[in-house]
This record gives sequence, structure tokens and C-alpha cells, in this order.
Amino acid sequence: MSEPKPTFLHDYRPPAYRVTHTELSFDLEPGATRVKASLHLERHPQREAGSPLMLDGEQLELKSIAIDGQPLDDDEYSLSETGLTVHRVPERFRLDTEVEIAPEENTALEGLYLSNGMYCTQCEAEGFRRITFYPDRPDVMATFSTTVIGDQARLPVLLSNGNPVERGELPNGKHFVTWEDPHPKPCYLFALVGGDLKKVEDRFTTMSGREVALQIWVEEENLGKTGHAMASLKRAMKWDEETYGREYDLDLFMIVAVNDFNMGAMENKGLNIFNSAAVLTHPKTATDVAFQRVESIVAHEYFHNWSGNRVTCRDWFQLSLKEGFTVFRDQCFSADANSAPVKRIEDASFFRTAQFAEDAGPTAHPVRPDHYIEIGNFYTLTIYEKGAEVVRMLCNLVGWETFRRGSDLYFERFDGQAVTIEDFVSCMAEVSGLDLSQFMRWYSQAGTPEIDAYGEYDYANAEYHLTLRQRTPVTPGQADKQPLHIPVRMGLVGTKSGRDLSLNLEGEDLGTAAVIHLREAEQSFVFTDVSEAPVPSLLRGFSAPVQLRFPYSREDLAFLLANDSDGFNRWDAGQRLAMLALDDLIAAHRNGVEKVMDPRIVEAFRALLERGSDDKAVLAEMLTLPSEAYIAEQQPLVDVDAIHAARTFVKQSLAVTLRDEFMALFEANRSDEPYAPEPEQIGARSLKNVALSYLMAIEDEQGIELTQAQFDADHNMTDVRHALTLLTHSSRDELADPALRAFGEKWAHDPLVMDQWFSLQVTRPQADALDRVKFLMAHPAFSMKNPNNIRALIGAFANQNRVNFHRADGESYRLLADVVIELNRLNPEVAARLITPLTRWQRFDEARQGLMKGELERIRAERLSPNVYEVVEKALA
Ligand code: PHE
Ligand code: ZN
Repeated sequence: MSEPKPTFLHDYRPPAYRVTHTELSFDLEPGATRVKASLHLERHPQREAGSPLMLDGEQLELKSIAIDGQPLDDDEYSLSETGLTVHRVPERFRLDTEVEIAPEENTALEGLYLSNGMYCTQCEAEGFRRITFYPDRPDVMATFSTTVIGDQARLPVLLSNGNPVERGELPNGKHFVTWEDPHPKPCYLFALVGGDLKKVEDRFTTMSGREVALQIWVEEENLGKTGHAMASLKRAMKWDEETYGREYDLDLFMIVAVNDFNMGAMENKGLNIFNSAAVLTHPKTATDVAFQRVESIVAHEYFHNWSGNRVTCRDWFQLSLKEGFTVFRDQCFSADANSAPVKRIEDASFFRTAQFAEDAGPTAHPVRPDHYIEIGNFYTLTIYEKGAEVVRMLCNLVGWETFRRGSDLYFERFDGQAVTIEDFVSCMAEVSGLDLSQFMRWYSQAGTPEIDAYGEYDYANAEYHLTLRQRTPVTPGQADKQPLHIPVRMGLVGTKSGRDLSLNLEGEDLGTAAVIHLREAEQSFVFTDVSEAPVPSLLRGFSAPVQLRFPYSREDLAFLLANDSDGFNRWDAGQRLAMLALDDLIAAHRNGVEKVMDPRIVEAFRALLERGSDDKAVLAEMLTLPSEAYIAEQQPLVDVDAIHAARTFVKQSLAVTLRDEFMALFEANRSDEPYAPEPEQIGARSLKNVALSYLMAIEDEQGIELTQAQFDADHNMTDVRHALTLLTHSSRDELADPALRAFGEKWAHDPLVMDQWFSLQVTRPQADALDRVKFLMAHPAFSMKNPNNIRALIGAFANQNRVNFHRADGESYRLLADVVIELNRLNPEVAARLITPLTRWQRFDEARQGLMKGELERIRAERLSPNVYEVVEKALA
């Protein structure tokens, strides 16, 4: 394979020809599906006359080609591995092609493929070119008319985008359905489904009084698992009307669940296709976390109907235009539907662990990259989550009302168009009158900005001097970094009163909480009339995606943990406090010194437990120690064993001292109420289960009994899975083994539950974890062709079982590389994603670095897909 070539943002040109209308017909057969396409094309007004017509196409067998009904001679066009060129075409014309494809051989799950006997498509970003010859780029928007033909008995349901307009029977037991989508769309939003599916139906009346039919299509055995997704969909539709004034625009909205899917879900116009894990729930099979994830993904895909479909991206460099905005929208929706502070804590804590790591590693890239080899590698935490943080900052900068006006302007001005990030930001600048030019650097500059803050209280003058210094570290290909415009939400908490003091900055009264704007590399802020010595509470609500350092003492942090009026920063103070103790213990472990628990941490936790909280979910977060991954992120050199030992030590020390308090917390929060995925219940369950984790950390006899009883009670999957995880991760194999066996047998028929069973076993800290991975890879419920299985077994092991993945003998690295090499052939997109933990080799000791690089080199020696090639090249650069 020749070296794949990058695509550059600065090379963008509009297409030479655009498609105004697309007619498709599919005759579905597993080994040989015929696709006929009639494209109505015309020269783009901004492009010169006489250009050849270039269409993308991969793995297509061309059967016929004609222009305006005239078949082309062999010398009138040429074919390559990546497409078709017609040398001379008229200004306006119809192109008819017929190709053959083989869905049953498609293991990459891009284009048209088979999942459990069901046909489905995945076209974003560049999958449509595996279906037919087409200008496969988002700035080509056409109306579609699609006829799907299939065997009536095996494929009774045939779906595509838009509305069904005709159906009928055909010879040989076949039938057809024709669908029309009146909204012009890029081909990445095309979808088709054919299978033996059953539907659950509901209705929604839009704000203007139109009736929309809502359908969720699943395999028959899953009919009982759609209720939560349907309820979430209706809530999301209502929320988008109320919050953004956005109404749905077709008579029909469909969701289809498929078992084999590379991502979470896909926003195809009127026909969202979902990974079954992102739509199916039942109290007995899905955890609270899964219920909440379904709610947010259903909303996310629905919200794309405006932020993505009606207004789409000009090119794939603008991916965050739709993803950043849509993630921000779904985050706000979930915050409104659940506990808002806990949603922010979860999102920020995930972000600081995973996105910070991405931004600090060899695949770091800006929210808007300027080049890529394989766009499939850019569905990242940076594009999605950092993109959402940037939109959130914009919203905070201009204020919600103005942001909403900017959003209205954006949707109105660009409806039906494919646009850029500048177009979005310029709407915000226009409605607010703000100069957002410096702010635009957030889109072009990679890396996590670091803020070093320093503060001093001047008693004599009653002033508080706050100095902020910002710096963005060098990232690959970006040596020079410019200062960013960073909104820092803050307060000054009086050490006497425990209250937010009023903020007077340069003669302006900002109230008790304000956003200060850091624009320079270094900037000082002088607050006047500060009546008592304060502790600053900075970056409240995680107001910018930065790493903030401030020389807090442990007393300061305990004070903020008790007094900060900002729930997020109260939680963060606890995390910082725990980090200080963990740092000491990590050092002690490395130096072979006896570990001693800092009593101040114990007292802070005791105070938390005594004080309780109205929001149980927040308290549960506060009682949760930073994860091993987050701790690792904060260390200059990652020592997985020291981190594990230190964290375990803190947990055990807290459990020993506060054993009775945790027991009381457990008892106070158990309940026999029927399961509901409601915020109060979820909060109570989290709190109870956190308490149980502490008790199990010391293998308290009563704690073990309670865990066993919780498992046996089989009340709901949240509790059962938590109990089974605690048993499996304990040292008591005599408890774990029978429970694992019973669970595995009981749920052998349910792939989504088996995935959970895989994950909780391969994340156990015991030294046999790698052997379990190998053993489970041979389990009948595991297949290398199913991305959910890969993520649940291999992904969970490599990303969540840090002590075992980083075994000193390198055996886990070797296993991961073996899997990547196999998947490189089967499913390059999933393969490339799976390499991530190996790309972080710089963070480890020399011996591990050598082993990790060795495996990356072993992968590089293979015949690689562009996806894997790009990641491995960056990792070894
Ligand atoms: N666009 C989808 C989403 O966010 C994600 C996706 C990308 C799905 C590529 C499949 C392939 O919401
Ligand atoms: Zn999305």
C-alpha cells in the first residue's frame, strides 16, 4: 500500500459539480447487492467550465454508466481504487450508474453491511462511497428518493430517510418501498435499513401543532427495552422547542437498534441508527449510568436534526461545528433533566482525565484540525468534548439570552447550507457586539492551557491581588502558542464568614461571583474593599477547559470543601485535597517508606459524611476518590503500581476509620422501591454503592454479607452489577466465582449484559486479569467482529485495568498489538481507536516505554489501513 496522503484545510475548494437530486435503488442480497444511482448534476457556479467529473467510490464493481441515457465508452471515463473520473461532461446532466457490492463481506461496518441478518448503513464520514459513486463530501446537498427492494419474508421492513411514498410486491417473493426525503442533505446522512424488525410507536405534537409519528425499530426480543429511549426522545423534542425554538420537520422520526456499530449512534435524517447499547434499557439489564447515557445519546442525535442536518459542515475540518455544539446542547438537556451540578462534575471529571490526556499526547490536535489522513480518526474527545467546552465558554461570554439569539440567527441564516466554524462564531459576535477574534484561537490551537494562579491578601489596604499566568504547552506540529481568551469564573470566600465576598474590580462592583477575562500571558487583578482574608475559588463550574494550579494549603482546601458556594468547586476542592495526600503516598510507596494517612483528609471526609447533602448524587461524587487514570494524568511519570497502592491505601484508611459512618450511609440509602431511572433514586443508589465500595475495600465481614445479599436480591442491574464487581474485584475468589458463573449463565442470551460481564472481570486488579482476557476471547459470546465486544473486553482491560495492562513483562501490550493487527484487517476504525493506550508511552518508565514502542513498531511493520497507519505514525514520530 502506498503511503496515505493527508488532506489539508487550506486546500478547500467547492466541488466542481453539485448534485441537486439523487435517486437510488437497492436490490438487497448478502453477497451481491445491486445499487442503481441517478444523479442530477450541474456545474458549481463558482467553478470553471470544462472540469472533469470526479466521484468517490471504493470497493464498488461498476456494472454500467451512462450520461443523459447514453452509455459511456471505456475511454470516456477512468476508474481507480478511490473513484471514477468522467473526462468530459455537460453543464447539467443526469448520470446513471449501476454497481454491485457485498454487504456480507463488510466487516469495517462502513457503508452497507449486515448485522445479525439485518441490512444497515453507516455513511459518516466517508462511508457512502462504499455504496455508490458520488461526490462524497458534506457540501454537496441533494434531495433523495430511495427505493429498497428485498425478500418479503426475510426483510419485511425496508426503511430509508424521509417519508414512505410507495410500496408494492415484486416477482420472486420480493417487495419494495420507496422513500422520499424532501430536505436536501449531504450523503453522510443517508441511511437504509432492511430486516425482520418490530416497532414500538408513539406520537409527538410539535409546538406548531403538527403530528409526528415516532418509531423505534428493534429485534422482537428487545421490544420491552425501548420505553426509556422513547420517553427520552419526547423529552428531547420538547426541550429543543422550549430551549432553542427548534421544531422537528418531518412527519416521521425513526430510531433503529443494531448490534454491530462502530460508534454510539448516528443522526441520519429521519432515520437515526443506534448501537443497541445506546438505546436499549431495562431495569434488570441496564445500569443507571446506561439509562442516563441512552437519554443523552437519544437527545444528542435528535438535536443534530438542526445542529448538523439542517445546517451542516462545509468540510470535515468543521466537524466540531456540529459535534461541539450538539454535545453542548445534550449536556444542557441532561443537566436540566437530572442533577445539574452532578452532570457538570461527571463531564468535567471525564474531560480532565481523558481529553487532557489526548491533548498531551502524540495525537493532540486542535478543535478544528488543519490536516488529516483519515477523518475517521478525528471523532475524538477534542472535537466533541473540547468543542463543547468552547461553545459553553461562548455561551458564558455572551450570556444565555444573547447566545440564544445568536443560535436563532445561525439557524435562520444558514438553513439548508454547509458552513464553517467562523459562520457560527460570527453570529455570536454579531448579536453580542463582542470581538471574538482572540477567542477563535481556541479552535486552532491544540494542547491544554495551564494557568498558574497566585494570590495575596493585603490587610492594610483590604485588597486581594490575584495574578494569573497562562501558557499552552507545545503540541505536535505547533511550537508557538498564543495567549487565549479565557473566562475564569470566580469568587472570594471569606475565611471568617465562610461567605462569598463582594468583588470590586477596578471600581466596578461585580457582585459575589464574576467572570474575569484572562487575555494576556500574565495578568493581575486587584480586588478592593475585601473585608476579610479570602480563599479564592477559581474556575467555578469548570468555566474553561484548562488546568489550573493554585498553591492551596490543605486547610484552604478543607475550607473550600466545606464552604464554597459553587458545588462544582466544592467537589474539586475535595479532589485536590485527596490528590495532595495521594502524592505523598505515591512518593512513600516509591521510596519504600511506610505509608501514613493524613488525618486532615479523614476529618474532611468525616465532616462530609456528617453534614450529608440534599443532592445525594453530588455527595456520592465527593466521596469518590480521583480515579487511577486521573491521578496518573497529574504525575510527571506514571507509576501504575504506586498509584494503585496509594489509592487503595487511602480508600482502606478511610474505610477503617469511618467504617460505621459508611455502614450508616449504606443503610440510610437502601430501598425496595420499584426501580426508576429518576435523579433521586439514582443519587441514593450511588451513595449507597459508594458506601459499599468502602466497606468492601477492607473486606468487612458485614460488608461482604451485604454485597452478597445485594447481588442475590437481583433488584436491578445497577445494584447487581455493582455487587458483582465488588465481589469479583475482592480477594475472595470463593465468593466471586459462583456469582460470576451464575450471572454468566443467566444472561448468556443477552449480548449487552454479557458485555458488562466481560468488563467487570477483566478490570479486576488481581494478577490473573490478562489470562482472563485471553480466556474470555474464546467465549461464545465474544466476537472480534462486534465492536461492543471489543470495547467491553479489550478496551476495558487496556484502559481501565492499569496495573495489569502495564504489567512489567509487556505481555498485555503484546496482546493489544495482536488484536490491533487482526482488527486492522477487519475494522480499521475500531482498530485505530484501540491503539490509544499504547500511544501514551512517553508517560512511563524506560523499560515500559521500550516495550510499548516495540509493539507499535510491530504494528507498523504490517500492511496498514490509513486509520491505523496515521495513529501509529504519530505515536512513533
Ligand atoms: N455523528 C455521530 C454522532 O455524534 C457519531 C458517528 C460518527 C457515528 C461516525 C458513526 C460514525 O453523533
Ligand atoms: Zn454527534
